[in-house]
Amino acid sequence: MLRHGTMFKLSDRMQAAYDHLIPDEPVWDFCCDHGYLGLSAYRSGRFPEVHFVDQVPHIIEKLKTRFEQKHQKYEQHQRAFFWSQSGESLTHQVSGTVVIIGVGTHTITDIMRGIHEKNSGFISRYIISTHNYEDKLNVFLDEFLPFKTAYKFTKFCNVPENGRLRKLLIFDKICKI
Ligand SMILES: C[S@@+](CC[C@H](N)C(=O)[O-])C[C@H]1O[C@@H](n2cnc3c(N)ncnc32)[C@H](O)[C@@H]1O
Repeated sequence: MLRHGTMFKLSDRMQAAYDHLIPDEPVWDFCCDHGYLGLSAYRSGRFPEVHFVDQVPHIIEKLKTRFEQKHQKYEQHQRAFFWSQSGESLTHQVSGTVVIIGVGTHTITDIMRGIHEKNSGFISRYIISTHNYEDKLNVFLDEFLPFKTAYKFTKFCNVPENGRLRKLLIFDKICKI
């Protein structure tokens, strides 16, 4: 996988997620918090839309203010969008690469249940990493039929973080021919 330099020094886990974003497609940074992944994607100019989603309003407000002061001036063709709501309650259409990392299994499964069926045909790739209950996440991914029939497991990366290994899972849309 070709490594692209980013404007932030990303952790290995974030860099691995960044390296698997699909160029020329939207990026959805769910549970974005500091927003480093989405900001790196935005600044690269390689993605037409970057969406930041976090359920804590002041996180999104702060991020948006920082974005307007420091990053928006680098806009070429790319656009940024800020969503101050839980991922599972989004009704806007989601497409391109969905990233849900740095949260627990419960949050990941809630968000996937909330967005998957409405957007199944539009989401090209899911990049997922849980910080707890990996087994429960695997069971969910194996049993959530609408997802299982539309997406295939493509690869996983083991990434070191704070003395432990985190798994990053990549799922891609099954292209019907
Ligand atoms: C530990 S940070 C993870 C940040 C980043 N994704 C990473 O991997 O470093 C978790 C963030 O997820 C947000 N969050 C938790 N549950 C959420 C949900 N259901 N929808 C959207 N954001 C959520 C929290 O507000 C917090 O900012």
